[in-house]
Amino acid sequence: MKATLIPEQSTTSLGTPLTSVLTFTGFLGRYFVSFILQFQFHKALCQAANHTGPLHTCDIYMSKEAGAKLREVLKAGSSKSWQEILFNLTGTDKMDAGALLEYFSPVTTWLQEQNNKTNEVLGWPEFDWRPPVPEGYPEGIDKIVDEAQAKEFLSEYNSTAEVVWNAYTEASWVYNTNITDHNKEVMLEKNLAMSKHTIEYGMRARQFDPSDFQDETVTRILNKLSVLERAALPEDELKEYNTLLSDMETTYSIAKVCRENNICHPLDPDLTDILATSRDYNELLFAWKGWRDASGAKIKDKYKRYVELSNKAAVLNGYTDNGAYWRSLYETPTFEEDLERLYLQLQPLYLNLHAYVRRALYNKYGAEHISLKGPIPAHLLGNMWAQSWSNIFDLVMPFPDATKVDATPAMKQQGWTPKMMFEESDRFFTSLGLIPMPQEFWDKSMIEKPADGREVVCHASAWDFYNRKDFRIKQCTVVNMDDLITVHHEMGHVQYFLQYMDQPISFRDGANPGFHEAIGDVMALSVSTPKHLHSIKLLDQVTENEESDINYLMSIALDKIAFLPFGYLMDQWRWKVFDGRIKEDEYNQQWWNLRLKYQGLCPPVPRSEDDFDPGAKFHIPANVPYIRYFVSFVIQFQFHQALCKAAGHTGPLHTCDIYQSKEAGKLLGDAMKLGFSKPWPEAMQLITGQPNMSAEALMSYFEPLMTWLVKENTKNGEVLGWPEYSWTPYAATEFHAATETTDFLGMSVGTKQATAGAWVLLALALVFLITSIFLGVKLFTSRRKAFKSSSEMELK
Ligand SMILES: *[C@@H]1O[C@H](CO)[C@@H](O)[C@H](O)[C@H]1NC(C)=O
Ligand SMILES: *[C@@H]1O[C@H](CO)[C@@H](O)[C@H](O)[C@H]1NC(C)=O
Ligand SMILES: [Zn+2]
Repeated sequence: MKATLIPEQSTTSLGTPLTSVLTFTGFLGRYFVSFILQFQFHKALCQAANHTGPLHTCDIYMSKEAGAKLREVLKAGSSKSWQEILFNLTGTDKMDAGALLEYFSPVTTWLQEQNNKTNEVLGWPEFDWRPPVPEGYPEGIDKIVDEAQAKEFLSEYNSTAEVVWNAYTEASWVYNTNITDHNKEVMLEKNLAMSKHTIEYGMRARQFDPSDFQDETVTRILNKLSVLERAALPEDELKEYNTLLSDMETTYSIAKVCRENNICHPLDPDLTDILATSRDYNELLFAWKGWRDASGAKIKDKYKRYVELSNKAAVLNGYTDNGAYWRSLYETPTFEEDLERLYLQLQPLYLNLHAYVRRALYNKYGAEHISLKGPIPAHLLGNMWAQSWSNIFDLVMPFPDATKVDATPAMKQQGWTPKMMFEESDRFFTSLGLIPMPQEFWDKSMIEKPADGREVVCHASAWDFYNRKDFRIKQCTVVNMDDLITVHHEMGHVQYFLQYMDQPISFRDGANPGFHEAIGDVMALSVSTPKHLHSIKLLDQVTENEESDINYLMSIALDKIAFLPFGYLMDQWRWKVFDGRIKEDEYNQQWWNLRLKYQGLCPPVPRSEDDFDPGAKFHIPANVPYIRYFVSFVIQFQFHQALCKAAGHTGPLHTCDIYQSKEAGKLLGDAMKLGFSKPWPEAMQLITGQPNMSAEALMSYFEPLMTWLVKENTKNGEVLGWPEYSWTPYAATEFHAATETTDFLGMSVGTKQATAGAWVLLALALVFLITSIFLGVKLFTSRRKAFKSSSEMELK
């Protein structure tokens, strides 16, 4: 249990209420302290209750005197030092183990007698003793050390894997573009075949001992094959797991929100469009709440089982839990610390943007719906998850009279089609000397939502069919600038597939998952510049002045900076779910705690554990890790900076367009060709000349905007952050009342007291248990209770 208590990270330096930090040692320290203090308290209360006789027989039930003492302690909260409170209650200001020793003296005396009888050696002087290894234990013996044999094995693996993976991908494609029970059955069948193959070759890979092999790639592939992922599950559970996954994704994909007039709206394009374009508070609320009722809430129970099975598979592969497995793909021991450091570096940018946007929403929706010191209601930011805010650009535009960079009107007016959008993207990639899309791509992709009534998974995705010629995109493309950017994003994936297709199948993957997400976005950073849009006739004129610049940077910031906290928190939530720090009965509450902590958002209507709002975001039911997007949003600016330098760009970073630069293309192409064959820092080195993730490029890109924002916020006297963190736009208070006070012994204790006086509460919780319930049986329960209440305090 203790092993899962990873330190909660410090969050914000703004004096927001989210700064309660419990370090690992602090956590354990509290238990130790409370175990001493509870006996001191117990003894003092028993004295007040006039108890006589051995301490362990005391029961303070019905003693008003003991109650009065207790009340004094709780009332004091954190207004006095703990020494003073202790002194008032017990007559000493020192922690003292005497009461504990006295309490247990009958049993310790008895134990000593027993040990004397059997001549026990106390302690464990033979500290390095271990149980014997059973006979015939296979570890390490009979391993194959012949490298030629390993290479032959890998070549066989490669050709058989291509066939099996291709068959599954085909079946999965058919299902994703035509959701029927039959297609689902076929897909699940092919998935089982793929798992069988994984197990067979994985077990054989584990028979090699590659420690003396010359060729590092052989070792790297063997290690990768040894991780069986979900195929490690027993067959019945594997089937159950696969069915769960496809059921969750299907529930999400076919969810619809119906109005009283029986008109029903799917997410794509209807609800997405309402969130993007409506400025009617209640219409937005209808779409926001309706979507969560129709999707997340229906997935909740399946998700719990999914967590169990994912963890079981991870453990069978030697990881502590599924989150640890996901993180292992980055091959970075300090991954979590690195991310936290990056996030803290970038947080000031987000807080400045948040305050500015909140002011604009206040001007639009009024004090009734927005508090200038509180979190923002989550449905007003132009996106179903408030992960990108570019759709409310019209509300926050810094200079309404200067140029606005929006290609949508021109695209509509010129009659652009989805096909044209993909061709435009292909032109950009090839202008850099990168690889054009093959004919199969154009013949077999699904780039529009089918109009024949088929249910499809609309969420955009790029597909590698592992046969070195078939690559596709599935996207319900809408003709607008947002989707033009998405097209580049997906095309970036396919470009990566094409670049590494001659690698062994095990290396046909990104240097890390964030690299894969970054490629297309890097293209889009050039494509969306006014200069470039003008050159492809999507923008009339380019005005070069500071006001247009700020407008442009704001439109990009609403995508890139607004996303950072969301990209960070999605897997903060899942990592905690997987390692047990978030329990089943607090999924939604903890989700909103993170939404508040990182994004400064609140739900527009009360939420409960009957809701499952994480499940209303695609990647959660679809089992897609999310930290890759956060990584991508950081490194894409590093890539952009490096490519711009290679392209000979001068001037501010946000004005750079790498179009037609073969030098930039070569840099990126060479890194992509590596696939997963080397740890990602080598690919990073190839592109940027150094091996680390860094926030500097992003910060330098947005510097002109940030200077302007800080000035603007100062002018408006903004309070950054959300000190009124419990403010909500709805009148009902039940939901928040529960999070603001700790109901304890029937008394209501304020949050501040509860947090600061945590040690008092802990000790008292245990006094209460010990005095009213018989000790021996309940010790385990009381520990768990203490654990739970600490984690609840930690939330705030
Ligand atoms: C969808 O799949 C079903 C089989 O489940 C098939 O009969 C139907 O023709 C498919 N539709 C299209 C448009 O491919
Ligand atoms: C934005 O806000 C923070 C306050 O958290 C401030 O310290 C920071 O310097 C501001 N400016 C920028 C450019 O981030
Ligand atoms: Zn992607």
